[in-house]
Amino acid sequence: MVDDEPKKSKPSVRKRAEAIKNFRCKNLIAVIEDPNDIKNIGTVIRNVNALGVEKVYVVDPRNTLPDDWQEMRGRPSLFNTSVSAVKWTFVRRFDSTEACLSYLESKGFASVVTSPHVKGKTSIFLHEGDYTRHTKLAVWFGNESRGISPLAVERSEMCVAIPMFGMIESLNLGTSSGIVLYEIARQRREYQSKYRYRKHKGERATPLPTVMAPEGVAPEDAGQ
Ligand SMILES: C[S@@+](CC[C@H](N)C(=O)[O-])C[C@H]1O[C@@H](n2cnc3c(N)ncnc32)[C@H](O)[C@@H]1O
Repeated sequence: MVDDEPKKSKPSVRKRAEAIKNFRCKNLIAVIEDPNDIKNIGTVIRNVNALGVEKVYVVDPRNTLPDDWQEMRGRPSLFNTSVSAVKWTFVRRFDSTEACLSYLESKGFASVVTSPHVKGKTSIFLHEGDYTRHTKLAVWFGNESRGISPLAVERSEMCVAIPMFGMIESLNLGTSSGIVLYEIARQRREYQSKYRYRKHKGERATPLPTVMAPEGVAPEDAGQ
């Protein structure tokens, strides 16, 4: 359970929070569209946190989540299913796909959808994509049974599929978010390590590390 009043974090937690800052992928958002199962929402939040994605948006037309992130952080169902990641990763809910798309578009985000099927104008396999082309990127995951909506497909730049080699139609929502976000975050972290952004655009003289130093290894020696 999370207390109502946030307690001061332990120094070791603050140290970790500081250390991961540079590895978080700026302007990368995972969107879950109308998920049915709270366990899947928790898994996506956990994956987002673990892989250094910036935020989670949830299209929640059935109003299953509170509007306020502080309230979400205190919900045992989300806290437990995300193994506390909701405490550290910002989550925002939207009433509809349209509301979420409009908000993202107003902030300059491009969207890509994910599906095991060929959808929209452009469909690619995950490993074929360059996910650094857009400074601001939202990656959409669909409902457990219906998949991604036609509206999200229509307003997205492309549809990304994880190649399937088995007899079943699709992967689980939580699992697919882990695979897709791993590849996208990996590419964007590499890009961020080489290039500055905002006011200080251009190549860095020395690339930043792209992986965190294991204990006992100097940060400058990690990930080179
Ligand atoms: C259980 S699947 C939905 C299956 C649904 N019947 C459909 O047509 O998409 C839930 C979500 O996981 C993601 N997903 C599952 N398998 C995937 C794959 N092979 N490639 C990309 N995304 C996948 C998609 O976002 C999908 O909407």
